Amino acid sequence: MSERVTLVTGASRRIGRAIAEACLARGDTVVAHRRDADAEPAPYPRPVIGWSWDLNQPLPALPEAQITDLVLSASMFERGRHWSGIDAAGLEQERDRMRRHLQVNLLAPWELALALQRRRPLRSVVMLLDTYLDRSFPGHAAYQVSRAAGAGLVRALASELAPTRVNAVAPGTVLPSVRDPAERAEQEDAIAARTVLGRIGAPEDVVAAVMYLSDAAYCTGEILRVDGGRFKL
Ligand SMILES: NC(=O)c1ccc[n+]([C@@H]2O[C@H](COP(=O)([O-])OP(=O)(O)OC[C@H]3O[C@@H](n4cnc5c(N)ncnc54)[C@H](OP(=O)(O)O)[C@@H]3O)[C@@H](O)[C@H]2O)c1
Repeated sequence: MSERVTLVTGASRRIGRAIAEACLARGDTVVAHRRDADAEPAPYPRPVIGWSWDLNQPLPALPEAQITDLVLSASMFERGRHWSGIDAAGLEQERDRMRRHLQVNLLAPWELALALQRRRPLRSVVMLLDTYLDRSFPGHAAYQVSRAAGAGLVRALASELAPTRVNAVAPGTVLPSVRDPAERAEQEDAIAARTVLGRIGAPEDVVAAVMYLSDAAYCTGEILRVDGGRFKL
C-alpha cells in the first residue's frame, strides 16, 4: 500500500476511471468523484471512497479522508455556434455556454484544489487538459477558451502552491465521443493520418503520463502533451 490518498474527479467512466484504477493498482486509497450522488458507477477492482459534486453547484463538504494527491479529470465539452453574425438570442446562449465551461473546467477545479490545500498541503495536482488548448476552431470557442485558461491555471497554481507540484496532461483524441461506428472509424482514420505516430491514443497512454507526473519530484508547471505528435505533420 502507498500512503497516498488520491482524489480523482470524473472517476466513474472512461479516462477518469482508468486513472482511478491505476491509482488503486499502485496501492493508493482512492476517493472517486462523480457528478450525481444517486448514480451507481460500475464496481471498481478494489473499494473506493465515493464523493459527489455537480461542478456547476457550490463546493459541498470535502471528503473526510485526508487527501494527499489530486487528479482533475472531470470536464465538460459542448459544441457551440459560430460567433460570426450571431443574433441576440444566440449571444445569450453562447454567454451561458461560456459561463458553464469556465465554471466546470476552470473555477471548480481551482476552488477544489485550494480547499484541499487549505486543509492539508497536497503533494501533487495533475489536471487533464487538451492538446487543442492553444488552437481555435469555429464553434468550439467556449471549450477551447476554458482549456487555454486551464493551462494558465496550472502554471498559476504551480507557483502559488509550491512546494505542491502542479502539472497537466494534454491528450489528443483518445476516446472519441462519436457513437456511430462508421462515423467513428472515419474520424479515427482522419486523426491517425494527421498524427506522427499514425494512431489515435489509448487511455493507457494518458494514464501513464498522469502517473508519471504525480511522481515526478522535479516537475511543476509542466503541460505534457500526449497526442502522438498531432501537430507535428
Ligand atoms: N477522451 C478524449 O479523447 C480526450 C481528449 C482530450 C482531452 N480529454 C480530457 O481528458 C479528461 C477525461 O476525458 P474523458 O473523455 O474520459 O471525459 P468524459 O467522458 O467527457 O467524462 C467527463 C467526466 O467529467 C464529469 N463531469 C462532467 N461535467 C460534470 C459536472 N458538471 N459535475 C461533475 N462532474 C462532471 C463526468 O462525471 P459523471 O460521469 O459523474 O457524469 C465524467 O466522469 C477530460 O478532462 C477531457 O477533456 C479527453
